[in-house]
Amino acid sequence: MKILSIESSCDETAAAVVEDGRKVLSSIVATQVEEHKLYGGVVPEIASRRHAEAISGVVNEALQQADVTLDDIDAIAVTYAPGLIGALLVGVNFAKGLSLAKNIPLVPTHHLRSHIASNYIAHSELKPPFLCLVVSGGHSHIVLVDDYTKMKIIGKTRDDAAGEAFDKAARTMGMPYPGGIHLDKVAENGNPEAFKLPFPKVDNAPYDFSFSGLKTAVINLIHNAKQKGEELSVEDVSASFRNAVVKCLTTNLMKAAQDTGSKTIVIAGGVSANALLRRNLQKLCDENGLKLYMPPKELCGDNAAMVGSQGYYEYLSGHTAQQDLNAYATKSIEEG
Ligand code: KG4
Ligand code: ZN
Repeated sequence: MKILSIESSCDETAAAVVEDGRKVLSSIVATQVEEHKLYGGVVPEIASRRHAEAISGVVNEALQQADVTLDDIDAIAVTYAPGLIGALLVGVNFAKGLSLAKNIPLVPTHHLRSHIASNYIAHSELKPPFLCLVVSGGHSHIVLVDDYTKMKIIGKTRDDAAGEAFDKAARTMGMPYPGGIHLDKVAENGNPEAFKLPFPKVDNAPYDFSFSGLKTAVINLIHNAKQKGEELSVEDVSASFRNAVVKCLTTNLMKAAQDTGSKTIVIAGGVSANALLRRNLQKLCDENGLKLYMPPKELCGDNAAMVGSQGYYEYLSGHTAQQDLNAYATKSIEEG
């Protein structure tokens, strides 16, 4: 079964053709990051306009690269939640148009479920159940994935997402948007023990995260030094902050693995590209006899191949939509 998939939830316009949920026949990503960089973050209005300009070309390219036409497509999967509403609507409406014109079933797909599915593409043997850390720009969840379309959130952030905290800390140090990736690189040359940062815990919720205090602590550290005319090592600050965030993520994930008895651990979302998170988690999983699956770097960020993968499983479970499909800025991964 061939699925044409479309992604437009944030600042990447993407389309792909995926066969039977696992085989990527094509994957095109048009990023707007250079334009949003000028403003230090994604400007929703600009994102919507760029998606509208790019989407026809990106979808055409995906079909061409896969050497198929719409007549070969069995279903159209589209990201309909969560994300920037104006951005999502561009993809949803485009998918609806194609579906109507060609009478192809429409499959609404949850963005975070798709991030998890990026692992199905990379690891053919991976099947639920497993325990998954989903860490993106807007979400930080620990999820029990019971089946492809059945999942339960057992931990989440009470305030900022990990990606958001990385981006804000990076921005304070003058790094370009999206800062997480730059901070990660700079941190490789720093001392992670140089600055003592808090280890935030949420009372009676051992799997929940709280990154806003940690973010404020690093911002205050930088501002205080500036006021005193002191020069802080950007490498050391980055390394200390990265170390603190990764420690929160790995501690809660390992506790969840222990308590739930999960032997298979998966990570997903933009922050799963983080070099320290990948290294430390691999070590912890090896030490505890757990099997770890991580998406390859090129599938960590937003793309449509992952939407085509998750869309396949949504379709198999009967999750299709009609022409009144809407987009939603927020929707739980549990609802799908
Ligand atoms: O999943 P994603 O591409 O988009 C959303 O669905 O939000 O995640 C983007 C987030 C951004 O906050 C970005 O800074 C962060 O992922 N990110 C990283 C790294 N690469 C991307 N954070 C830390 N280390 C990285 N290497
Ligand atoms: Zn994403």
